[in-house]
Amino acid sequence: MSGFLDDQDAAERILNHVENGTTDHSDEVWREPVANYLNPARLACETDEVMRRTPIAYCPSAALPDIGSYVARESARTPLVVVRGRDKKVRAFKNACRHRGTQVAEGSGCAKAFVCPYHGWTYQLDGSLKQVPHEEGFPGFDKSVHGLVPVDCEERLGMVFVTQEKSLWKESPFQDLPQLIESDQKLMSATEVDLDANWKVHLESFLEGYHIRFAHPETFYPYGYDNLNLIEFCGSHGRITYPFRRIEKLADVPKEKRNIDGRVTFVYHVFPNVVITVLSRHTNIVIIEPVTVDRTRVVTYVLTNAGGGEDAAALAERDHSFVTQTGAAEDIALVKSIQRSINSDANEHFTFGHYESLIAHFHRNLTAALDGKPIE
Ligand code: FES
Ligand SMILES: [Fe+2]
Repeated sequence: MSGFLDDQDAAERILNHVENGTTDHSDEVWREPVANYLNPARLACETDEVMRRTPIAYCPSAALPDIGSYVARESARTPLVVVRGRDKKVRAFKNACRHRGTQVAEGSGCAKAFVCPYHGWTYQLDGSLKQVPHEEGFPGFDKSVHGLVPVDCEERLGMVFVTQEKSLWKESPFQDLPQLIESDQKLMSATEVDLDANWKVHLESFLEGYHIRFAHPETFYPYGYDNLNLIEFCGSHGRITYPFRRIEKLADVPKEKRNIDGRVTFVYHVFPNVVITVLSRHTNIVIIEPVTVDRTRVVTYVLTNAGGGEDAAALAERDHSFVTQTGAAEDIALVKSIQRSINSDANEHFTFGHYESLIAHFHRNLTAALDGKPIE
């Protein structure tokens, strides 16, 4: 059972909002100090105290299809390598050679072993150190305690999660989260782009529909609504639903027969820094990795949707490039615009109103985690 509404209840709630001209909202206004987007010490706490102590969605299972498939990337500003072993289990390691720290893997691919590019120390897929060239140069050296340093790693809900240090969570953060990626979803692409913006400014751009009419007048708005969303919380995570106007065709369909596929966009926020957007024909997993206070690495995995037919891949490809060039580009331009004024002292706080409650929920949980409180 998922902590989110099922499709029929979601459709019912959306149709009620359409009829009444209403939307989901909260009674709260959240004021986030702008200093929290500027301070490198604060960012260090966000990565070291929160992200390293939280299971972070690292990649879809589909990115590691075979024995030896690996993905090397920074997570919470720590280089990691995640690999599927000979026993098919996925393991994560700090991506640092135990000789002098060179990264043993780069990018993604499929390997039989990891050979350090500096002096050739060789690690097996389970992280154990197998070979040291000219080993006689290290008298008494114990290879068995010089394997790659493991990091907690689990495969769940169609994704791989890594937890670098003791978890902050009171209970399982996965409780009530639905299956995020189904096994029939085909991985189409994985890209990495650096963005000149704070990671939270970028994250916030996914989490409210109050901006649709002004920011997307000719792209999303003609098909969607202004400020008409469902907003749901699930522990520290959340989901915002953006309906398309074509959902109104379901008003005359009996509730239990309503199929909302292609009539809404679901945006899941997986705390703290991952967003999964399920559009009409494709799904994006967006990993928002902080680099510095004003630079963010955005890793995007594009997948077909669950239950797609034979033409699923072509349709996913087509829709993904359309959205990237239109509405998503408008959001990125706004994110960069905020970043360019963020040092101007114009605002002491950013104010998130009743229709931006998923953003308030995020800041509340992040603040609690930074205060050392266990996360919900
Ligand atoms: S640093 Fe890796 S083998 Fe020397
Ligand atoms: Fe937008």
